[in-house]
Amino acid sequence: MEQPKTISARSDVPPFMVMDVMAAAERIEANGGHVIHMEVGQPAAPAPKAAIAAAHHALDGARIDYTSALGMLSLRERIARHYRDTYGCTVDAGRVVVTTGSSGAFILAFLAMFEPGDRVAVTVPGYPPYRHILTALGCEPVLIETSHQTRHALTGEDLLSVHRKKPLQGVLVASPANPTGTMMSKEALAGLIAAAEGAGIRFISDEIYHGLDYAFPAVTAAQLSQRALIINSFSKYFCMAGWRIGWMVVPEALVRPIERLQQNLAISVPTLSQFAAEAAFDGRQEMEAVKRGYVENRRILIEGLPQAGLTKFLPADGAFYLYADVSNFTSDSLAFAKQMLQEAHVAATPGVDFDPLHGNSFIRFSYARSADDMREAVARIARWLG
Ligand SMILES: Cc1ncc(COP(=O)(O)O)c(C=O)c1O
Repeated sequence: MEQPKTISARSDVPPFMVMDVMAAAERIEANGGHVIHMEVGQPAAPAPKAAIAAAHHALDGARIDYTSALGMLSLRERIARHYRDTYGCTVDAGRVVVTTGSSGAFILAFLAMFEPGDRVAVTVPGYPPYRHILTALGCEPVLIETSHQTRHALTGEDLLSVHRKKPLQGVLVASPANPTGTMMSKEALAGLIAAAEGAGIRFISDEIYHGLDYAFPAVTAAQLSQRALIINSFSKYFCMAGWRIGWMVVPEALVRPIERLQQNLAISVPTLSQFAAEAAFDGRQEMEAVKRGYVENRRILIEGLPQAGLTKFLPADGAFYLYADVSNFTSDSLAFAKQMLQEAHVAATPGVDFDPLHGNSFIRFSYARSADDMREAVARIARWLG
């Protein structure tokens, strides 16, 4: 008799290989070793003081009830104001949806925009959960390779050439990007949006690393299109990764469908985090100081890694990542990362996590910790490779 199927095919998504590196780092630390952590993509700094105070205040005084599925109105209005203050761009608070991190936003956005079987373009190298969430929802992630020449920005031409072979229903890009740290110029982003929308391809912009731009100011897709869907989060610039809160700016027509989805999938986003997130916007001075720390870390790595032997990396325009080419040393980035961890006690993420095509040639360093850690990492890598 045939056994009933207990595990769905769609749940068969790959794991995050960096978890292997983290587990190995924990073992070294349990034995008294000191690991420099450059594998994890989260800020070492705490949430803004104003956010923490607001959370205390809410715990003491307010009821922590469900909120509206779209989020607390005051938070949605504060987010809309953020677009005015930061980009000089008008966003109607009615189009803002509060989500459980940007991770929660991807699920809502994909469900609201795509049917099972729809083809959605994502860039490689890129953030792995884009592909894995799409797969779990029955959509087809279509990988488009980007190159050094375009700062790893997807071009309209490349998008349309894939679309002509077999139609795409959506495209998702991030700028600043993970793992490359590269950014799209305003012209590049505008050109891509125009190409996508002209061909009926829906455009999703992951703007989670906005605020962490060093080479030139990041441009929001909200400035360029009313039809684009923008995803952002309090996890990176605002140092609130564990609070699990993010947001979207969605096209008018998607507000109600997304509201219905969120009502059914989650009811609402954690209320305590919503109180804290609203106040986080008052902590910008503190966050700018954290950002200045990243600027210094970036300088230490850009100057130090070549002296340590890692001479090839992509322009680190934004976010807090540096994607280094290690093809002179290895053709197996996971083995390289494990060996660097064991012998130099520096943890980094193997490129294979982000790029099934060329990831074995790359290692991602996260520079969201202290400057002392960065200097120590450079010294350890120099000794190890030397
Ligand atoms: C490019 C990118 N998008 C989205 C996320 C998800 O972040 P969160 O769900 O914490 O907002 C991450 C996390 O590292 C990321 O790097």
